[in-house]
Amino acid sequence: MSVLSRERRGAIEILTVNRPKALNAINAEVLSALDQAVTDLASDELLRAVVLTGAGDKAFVAGADIAAMQALTPVEAERFAGEGQAVLDRLASLQVPVIAAVNGFALGGGCELAMACDMVFASAGARFGQPEVKLGVIPGFGGTQRLVRRVGMSVALDLCLTGRMVRADEALRVGLVSRVVDGDVLEAAIDAAEGIASLGPVAVRLCKRAIHENADGALSTAQAAERTLFGLCFATDDQSEGMAAFLEKRSAEFQGQ
Ligand code: CAA
Repeated sequence: MSVLSRERRGAIEILTVNRPKALNAINAEVLSALDQAVTDLASDELLRAVVLTGAGDKAFVAGADIAAMQALTPVEAERFAGEGQAVLDRLASLQVPVIAAVNGFALGGGCELAMACDMVFASAGARFGQPEVKLGVIPGFGGTQRLVRRVGMSVALDLCLTGRMVRADEALRVGLVSRVVDGDVLEAAIDAAEGIASLGPVAVRLCKRAIHENADGALSTAQAAERTLFGLCFATDDQSEGMAAFLEKRSAEFQGQ
């Protein structure tokens, strides 16, 4: 059984980290499987959205694999962190939206993996945290940086310096999570992904790009980039179709052109 299950549902790819006995902890094998999946998905013209989840009902991902990390030398640990950061960066850079369906613990590298996704849907019982300081280390898959960008300095410092876990409702309140789902979080994420797949594909990609590529920039530069991408939308058939369909009071049939 692969440590990363992959299921295709139309234009949606569902990735499931599959080591439930270790609460889906990320080892080198998981990183490598994620990397391969991202490589495949990056060139998949028919893909419209990705959903990422963890196997079982207890954890999304409970962190990097502590047993595998225990005996690392400093050089090996730096390399492992670099590999984790690179894979998460590549996941974050997919052109299509990626939704994390967090069905339990998302701790350490698991919280970092969720934050590399565009949206984070959490079950009501999900728990988030960066507990690395409890192990005598710090986050290594981008957690100190992605967390501060998601939730701001105060909350990022609180979570990273205390290692405490937060429940889904607090994670929603501080902006770490996009939605808390009462029912089945995976089904909710798939529904949202299918909704995205029905929208203008080029516009969805450009919108993701406008937000990610400019979030750290000055407002004037960022808005200039937004204007350019807005203009680019008007070079697409999807824009003609989307606006015509609205004015003709019918559903748009987007071709992704
Ligand atoms: N690595 C390896 N194995 C893990 C693991 C991890 N991160 N998290 C859980 N497991 C294993 C446990 O060792 C246990 O295995 P055995 O059954 O063989 O003993 C199994 O998963 C079930 O876990 P628990 O018995 O501990 O379950 P619990 O319900 O009592 O506790 C928990 C759940 C609170 C999530 C607890 O497992 C826990 O604290 N896990 C570690 C969380 C953590 O510290 N994550 C950060 C890792 S460091 C990191 O991620 C660095 C980075 O940024 C790259």
